[in-house]
Amino acid sequence: MSEVLLKNVSKIYEGNVVAVQDVNLEIKDKEFVVLVGPSGCGKSTTLRMVAGLEEITEGEISIDGTIVNNKPPKDRDIAMVFQNYALYPHMTVEENMAFGLKLRNYPPEEIKKRVNEAAEILGLKEYLQRKPKALSGGQRQRVAVGRSIVRKPKVFLFDEPLSNLDAKLRVQMRAELIKIHARLKVTTIYVTHDQTEAMTMGDKIVVMNNKLVQQVGNPIEVYRRPVNKFVAGFIGSPPMNFLECDVKEAGGGVILDLGDFQLKLPSDLAEKARPEIGKKCTFGVRPEDLYDPSMYNAQIDGNKVIANVEIVEHLGSEEFVYFTTANHPFVAKYDPSVIIHIGDTNKEVVFDMKNSHLFDIETEMALF
Ligand SMILES: Nc1ncnc2c1ncn2[C@@H]1O[C@H](COP(=O)(O)OP(=O)(O)O)[C@@H](O)[C@H]1O
Ligand SMILES: [Mg+2]
Repeated sequence: MSEVLLKNVSKIYEGNVVAVQDVNLEIKDKEFVVLVGPSGCGKSTTLRMVAGLEEITEGEISIDGTIVNNKPPKDRDIAMVFQNYALYPHMTVEENMAFGLKLRNYPPEEIKKRVNEAAEILGLKEYLQRKPKALSGGQRQRVAVGRSIVRKPKVFLFDEPLSNLDAKLRVQMRAELIKIHARLKVTTIYVTHDQTEAMTMGDKIVVMNNKLVQQVGNPIEVYRRPVNKFVAGFIGSPPMNFLECDVKEAGGGVILDLGDFQLKLPSDLAEKARPEIGKKCTFGVRPEDLYDPSMYNAQIDGNKVIANVEIVEHLGSEEFVYFTTANHPFVAKYDPSVIIHIGDTNKEVVFDMKNSHLFDIETEMALF
C-alpha cells in the first residue's frame, strides 16, 4: 500500500508569491497520476513538496497514512526523476545505478541483484560497463529511471522526464514508462506540460492552471466533460473552437445565434441551456466534431454551416481544415479522404451538436 494524500496544500514563497493554492489530491495505491498544465502553474512545486524538497506552507501531505510534512526527503521512501537527470560521468551505468544503494549500505549481493533486475527491465544489460558519454539520450534517460527503480520506493515522482528527448524518442520512452509501471505497479506522480503525455499515460489526470487544480478525472472524462473553458481548451489538439453566441428561444427549442449563422441544440442540451436564454455564452466544439457532408452519417445530430477554406494541413492520417465565416474562424479535423482545397468557398460543414459545449461567458464554467 502506498497512498499519497494532499490536504489543502499551499506553497507561498517569500514576498507572498503564491506557487500552489489549496491543492487537494488523493493518489491511490499503484495509481499513475499525471499533473498537467502550462508552465508556471505550480506542478513542480507540488511534486517537490511531496518529495520533501520544498517546505509545505499550509496543509498536510501524507504517504501511507503518515503525515510527512516534517520528514526529510530521505525518510519518505520516494524516488524522483527530473528533466535534468545528472548521471555521474566518471561512473559506469552499473555504478550509477548502484550508487544510491551503496550510500545506504545495502549488501553487495543485494545491490547486484537489484541493478541486474533494473537493467533487464530497461534493456540496459549490454550497457552496464559503459560510461554515460557512450550512451544515447534515451539510454541515459533509462539509467536515470534505473537509479530510481533499484531503490524499490513506495512512490515514483517524475518531473518532465522526457522533455529533453527528441519527439520520436519521447513517444518511445512514454510507452516504456507505461510498461514499467504495468510491471512494477508503484504509485507514480508524473508532471508534464504536454497534454498528449497526460492523456496517454495517466490513469488519472490532474489539470492545473494558475496555481489551482482545475479538474481531476480519467483522461476520457476530462476530455469529454471539461469543467471549464480552460480545461476544454488545454486538452485536445488542435484545441476546441470557442465562438461567442447569443442563447435564444426558437420554436420551443433553443438555438445559439452566432450572428452569421445559427445552431440548434438537441433537446437534452437545450434544457441545460434554457436558463441562459437572453444571455451571451461561449459555444465550444472540438475540431473532430465537425464533418464534411460526404462523411456525415445519420446518427450525427447535425447542423450545417456555410464557410470558406483558408488553410488545409494534410497530416497523412487526418487533415486540419481552417474555415472562416463572415464573423468566425474555426478548425475542423477531417478524414484525409475528404477532398478540399485552400480557397474553396461556400463549403458545407456539419456541426455535431450533441458533442458540443457551452460556457458561461464570465465564470468560464461549463454549462455542458
Ligand atoms: N524558489 C521560488 N521562489 C519564488 N517563486 C517561485 C520559486 N519556485 C517557483 N516559483 C514560482 O511558483 C510558481 C509555480 O512554479 P512551478 O511549480 O515551478 O511551475 P511549473 O512546474 O508548473 O512550471 C511560478 O510562478 C514560479 O515562478
Ligand atoms: Mg516545472
